[in-house]
Amino acid sequence: MSPDATLQANAPALSVRDLRKTYDNGVQALKGVSLDVRPGDFFALLGPNGAGKSTLIGIVSSLVNKTGGEVEVFGVDIARNRSEAMRLIGLVPQEINFNLFEKPFDILCNYAGFYGVPREEAMVRAEEELKRAHLWEKAHVMSRTLSGGMKRRLMISRAMMVRPRLLILDEPTAGVDIEIRRGMWKTLREINASGTTIILTTHYLEEAENLCRHLAIIDKGTIVQQGPMKALLAKLDVEGFLLDIEGSVPGGLPQIEGTSLERVDDHTIDLEMPRAMDLNRVFAALNDAGIRVRSMRTKSNRLEELFVRMTSKDTP
Ligand SMILES: Nc1ncnc2c1ncn2[C@@H]1O[C@H](COP(=O)(O)OP(=O)(O)OP(=O)(O)O)[C@@H](O)[C@H]1O
Ligand SMILES: [Mg+2]
Repeated sequence: MSPDATLQANAPALSVRDLRKTYDNGVQALKGVSLDVRPGDFFALLGPNGAGKSTLIGIVSSLVNKTGGEVEVFGVDIARNRSEAMRLIGLVPQEINFNLFEKPFDILCNYAGFYGVPREEAMVRAEEELKRAHLWEKAHVMSRTLSGGMKRRLMISRAMMVRPRLLILDEPTAGVDIEIRRGMWKTLREINASGTTIILTTHYLEEAENLCRHLAIIDKGTIVQQGPMKALLAKLDVEGFLLDIEGSVPGGLPQIEGTSLERVDDHTIDLEMPRAMDLNRVFAALNDAGIRVRSMRTKSNRLEELFVRMTSKDTP
């Protein structure tokens, strides 16, 4: 085992502490962001336009200078040990940025060469990566003739040439149709299954739901939610109401299976229930307990509002 491996054995794949970024024009893109990504995880960073996703990724991959805070990649501090940290990361930027007049095989080999991988080893890896991305039959054609989806898969293959322990993708599927997106999901799942930690940014909850085990939701430079995908989906499945009732709220509220009822004040009850549940059932049970609902309003849910905003703006 190398000394590095000992040093990083128990470290998170990514640890971000109180990260801040103020751009020269005064925009505060990150206002104290903290998050941890476990080794082997598939992690989504979700957020609307301008949330700070690319800024965060830019800092982690040393393309953007931070204003404050700390970032470690497998225990390696990116500020103190920049080149060592960089060697652990593969980055897939949002824009296609390879030379369209080169062939996929050459693009991959040259990229690996730039990072010090010997030519022969690079050729072995290029074949492996192109096969994994289902691009092997396109290895020696001009890359400008690849379809949009193929070009995006090639971007992923290129990042994988340096055998990163952490693969970071900035909106890998933005603007691509659903079929291409599914193909890319498959490739990413295979990469993750072979042991590479993956972080991706996306506007699509569906994408995060399909791929990721953990996620963080960022909005206006602040993390608004973070945790396992399943727990978050469960939260989105619950609806909240405030019920105005006739007379006073009785001392003991009835138990209605699957719901939670709480007294807010003398005339108001807070109701939480699964979205799929029939509201009439709840009203009937309240009625049986002598509680008459005069009016009701939906309780606003920050998480849900954020998703509505994200999806209404960004879903094609
Ligand atoms: N180079 C820059 N100079 C000044 N402001 C910037 C710069 N880059 C980003 N910003 C601002 O920082 C904020 C966060 O931008 P960022 O690109 O990180 O968001 P994002 O979540 O990636 O958005 P999108 O989903 O649109 O890609 C925005 O208000 C943006 O205008
Ligand atoms: Mg972005």
